[in-house]
Amino acid sequence: MGSRGTFYIETFGCQMNERDSETISALLAQEGMEPSDDPGTADVIILNTCAVRESAEAKVWSRLGKLHAMRSGDEPVFVLAGCMAQLPDTLLRLKRRVPFVKIVSGPGNIHRIPDLLQEARADRKAGLLTAVSPARTGVTRDESTQILPEGLPRKQIPGVSAFVTIMYGCDNFCSYCIVPYVRGPQVSRLPGDVIGEVRDLARRGYKEVTLLGQNVNAFGLDFGGERRETGPYGFAALLKDLDRIEGLHRIRYFTSHPRDFTKEMVDAVRQCEKVCEHFHLPLQSGSDNILKVMNRGYSKDEYLDLAGHILDTVPDASITTDIIVGFPGETEEDFQETLDVVRRVRFDGAFTFIFSPRKGTAAAKMKGQVPKEEKSQRLQRLVELQSGITLERNTEMVGKEVEVLIEERDPKDPALWRGRTRTNKMVLAEAGPGVSPVGRMVNVEVREAGVWYLKGPVRDSEELRSP
Ligand code: SAH
Ligand code: SF4
Ligand code: F3S
Repeated sequence: MGSRGTFYIETFGCQMNERDSETISALLAQEGMEPSDDPGTADVIILNTCAVRESAEAKVWSRLGKLHAMRSGDEPVFVLAGCMAQLPDTLLRLKRRVPFVKIVSGPGNIHRIPDLLQEARADRKAGLLTAVSPARTGVTRDESTQILPEGLPRKQIPGVSAFVTIMYGCDNFCSYCIVPYVRGPQVSRLPGDVIGEVRDLARRGYKEVTLLGQNVNAFGLDFGGERRETGPYGFAALLKDLDRIEGLHRIRYFTSHPRDFTKEMVDAVRQCEKVCEHFHLPLQSGSDNILKVMNRGYSKDEYLDLAGHILDTVPDASITTDIIVGFPGETEEDFQETLDVVRRVRFDGAFTFIFSPRKGTAAAKMKGQVPKEEKSQRLQRLVELQSGITLERNTEMVGKEVEVLIEERDPKDPALWRGRTRTNKMVLAEAGPGVSPVGRMVNVEVREAGVWYLKGPVRDSEELRSP
């Protein structure tokens, strides 16, 4: 059977989208299409998009323009998938600005992409074909609308680490955030399905899984009636069940919500051998006033309590965070509260963002929007403080030995191998010639530290010694 053509996917945004792109690839491969990494020749070009900030959208619009210009003369089928597909404005703008886009598919509808492609290729003159969910429905359990995408294929990526979605959507409505609108309400997968998928990955040689959800700590809370004798089946129970899977070495999860991170879950992380000692705890702001209008559901003190509890009970834990500066109404004093938390927790790392008003969210309409200049200055001050702390935290590792799961050869220096510690720090390992250490756990002696990496020679590795 000849190829049914080639497809090229570009992914923007978070790991959810990366995971969705794997499924899209697999669905198209099932139809006999071949993946391509050349947008200059592929028959189908898919952009899997993100809507979380204005800048994320801007990237997609400009990329669409560039790709179209590159292909002037021939006509690949352009597909806009992902979170932007769910914004009402996107459809209007597509028709006006980029009429060459033929298919739009929201994250809850990726299973329909193959059919839509067939339609679009059968009728080149067809108008815009859309598969988007009605407002505030994403993935649902209701088979009459969308289905929970169980049993969809995934692209087999040879590797050591895999993403596993454990829940879709989000119910939190943090006032700045578009995600609950574009991804729909929270729907957890059934524990058995998650465990089955992870078991299968372990059997196929994956050493590490990262559990994905917008608020993994709320896993299972949407089940309602589904209870075990010991109480509700929640995130802690899931971690304990996954910890028993043979062959797997590491379990990560992303993203946590400080409001829903219970002490029971911290205990589960400590007890479970495979669950890594890395806590990504988005702070967003250190000011009680701002946290309240953000609708985050915790105070500065509650956040500090949780971080303190983690550092007290989990040896060698790392904590990273997300912070937004310039939320409407944020004063210099509010910003100082954020800096105070940064100094007190001494985060291992932080993703820092300038508030971006998203149409349809509560914060976009709030009074007291902070001037652009002020926002950039606050970001700069925050980044400066945090990079100093990150460097200090990493420098504390010099002289220690860390366990590293090697992921790939360093793209810049062929004498180095890249991997991460259990605490999610990037390591450049000097392994010397011999067998490729990819997929192996090695011990690295840290000799050098930067803001983004630790570096040193491989010291010892049972797996490297035994054939
Ligand atoms: N569900 C996750 C992450 C969602 S988006 C969580 O709750 O943490 C990732 C990060 O983008 C957020 O943590 C937040 O810091 C940032 N973000 C979301 N909306 C934003 C906006 N409108 N402007 C700037 N940053 C935003
Ligand atoms: Fe957005 Fe808040 Fe949901 Fe995270 S928890 S996706 S920030 S609404
Ligand atoms: Fe972006 Fe959608 Fe993820 S908006 S951050 S790709 S959930």
